[in-house]
Amino acid sequence: MMNINTLIIGAGAAGMMCAAHAGPGTLVVDHAKAAGEKIRISGGGRCNFTNMHASAANFISRNPHFCKSALKRYTQWDFIALVDAYRIAWHEKTLGQLFCDDTAKDIVAMLRAEMDKARAQLWLQTSVGALHHDGTHFHVQLIRDGQMTQVVAKNLVVACGGKSIPKMGATGLAYQIAAQFSVPVVETRAGLVPFTFGEDRFKPLAGVALPSRISADGPAFDEALLFTHRGLSGPAILQASSYWQPGNSICVNLDPHGGLLAFLKEQRQAQGRKALTTVMGQYLPARLVDYLSAELQLAGNIADQSDARLQDISEGICRWILPPTGTEGYRTAEVTLGGIDTDALSSRTMGVKSLPGLYFIGEAVDVTGWLGGYNFQWAWSSGWAAGQAI
Ligand code: FDA
Repeated sequence: MMNINTLIIGAGAAGMMCAAHAGPGTLVVDHAKAAGEKIRISGGGRCNFTNMHASAANFISRNPHFCKSALKRYTQWDFIALVDAYRIAWHEKTLGQLFCDDTAKDIVAMLRAEMDKARAQLWLQTSVGALHHDGTHFHVQLIRDGQMTQVVAKNLVVACGGKSIPKMGATGLAYQIAAQFSVPVVETRAGLVPFTFGEDRFKPLAGVALPSRISADGPAFDEALLFTHRGLSGPAILQASSYWQPGNSICVNLDPHGGLLAFLKEQRQAQGRKALTTVMGQYLPARLVDYLSAELQLAGNIADQSDARLQDISEGICRWILPPTGTEGYRTAEVTLGGIDTDALSSRTMGVKSLPGLYFIGEAVDVTGWLGGYNFQWAWSSGWAAGQAI
C-alpha cells in the first residue's frame, strides 16, 4: 500500500504539465515505455507546441466558453516563457504556429525536468487495474513489472488522452473512468483526420498538393490540400474534418485567392490559340486540370471561350462539391472530438463537480483545438489549471 496526495494517469502533455504544478506527493503513471510519446512525434518531430493566436475561438466544444478560463490563466505566452527559460530555440512556421528549431524531444525533456523540480515521481510501463473511491480517497491498483501496488490518493487526475492512434497507446480509459463515476461523456469521434472517398476516386491525383479553401459544416480553412491514394488530406482538410457531419458534402475551392477568371481572360488576349487545358495548367497543377477536364468540359482553345463560359469554369473550380464516404478514423486522427462533458467539470480547476478530488484534463475533455499547436496549448492550460487547484 502506498499513500500519496495525487495520482495522475497518463504522462502525456497534460499529465506532465499537471505533475509539474500539483505539489508534493504526486505520482504519474503511464503504460507506455516513455513519457510524452505524442509530443516526440508531433509536428514532424519538431512539435508545434503552441500558437501565438490561441483563443477560445480556435476550439470546438459543446460549451465554447468552457476553455476560456484555463486558456486565459495559462496562456501561450506563459508556455513560450517556459520554453525560453530552457533555452529551446523556436520559430514561427506559419499562421502563428510555433515549432522547435531542433527537436520535439527538447519539450519532453523540459517537462521531465519540471516534474523532477516538483519532485513528482514517474512510473512507466505501469497499467491501471481496479479503482474505487471510499468517500474520501481513491484506491487504485497499479501493475508494474508484474508486481501489484495498491495506491491510495486524495486526488486522481485522468490525463490519459483520447482514442486517437491506438498504435501509440491510446486506450479510451478516461471514458471508462468517467462512466464508473457517472461523469457524462459527449459522444466521441475522430478529428483532424483525412477524408476517404470511393475506391480509387483520386488515385490519378495522388501526391498533388495546392492551396485551397475547404469548408464542411463549419468555418472555411485557407490552407494546403493534398490528394492521396485514399482520398483527401492536408491541413485544410484536417481542419474541416473536425466540423464535418457524416453524410454531408464538403466544398473545395481550388482558387482561394480568386485570380483564375482574370488570368483566363488575360490569356485569351495574350495566347488565344493555346488549348484551354494548357492555359489552365499554367495556373493549376496540370494533373488536376487533366482530371477535371471531363467534369468541367474543358475543350477547345482559350480564344473559343466566352466570358460566360470562363465564368462557369472559374465557378466550378471555386465550388467543387464532394461527398466523402467517411474519414480514416482514429487510426490516423490527430485528435478525438467530444469526451468528458464540460458541464460536469469546473472550468477553473478541471475538477468533477460531483466528486471532489477527481480531475479530467487534456484531450480526454470535450475541448478540441484546430490544427496548429492549439491542442498542446489546451493540454498545457488544462494541466496547469488542475495542478494549481490541487
Ligand atoms: P496524450 O495522448 O498526449 O497522453 C496520454 C498519455 O496517457 C499517453 O502517454 C498514453 O500512453 C497514456 N495512456 C493512455 N491510456 C492509458 C492507460 N490505459 N493506462 C496508462 N496510461 C495510458 N497537437 C499540437 O498542438 N501540435 C502538434 O504538432 C500536434 N501533432 C500531433 C501529431 C500526431 C501524429 C498526433 C497523433 C497528435 C498531434 N497533436 C498535436 C495532438 C496532441 O498530440 C494531443 O492533443 C495531446 O498530446 C493531448 O495531450 P494529452 O496529455 O491529453 O494526451
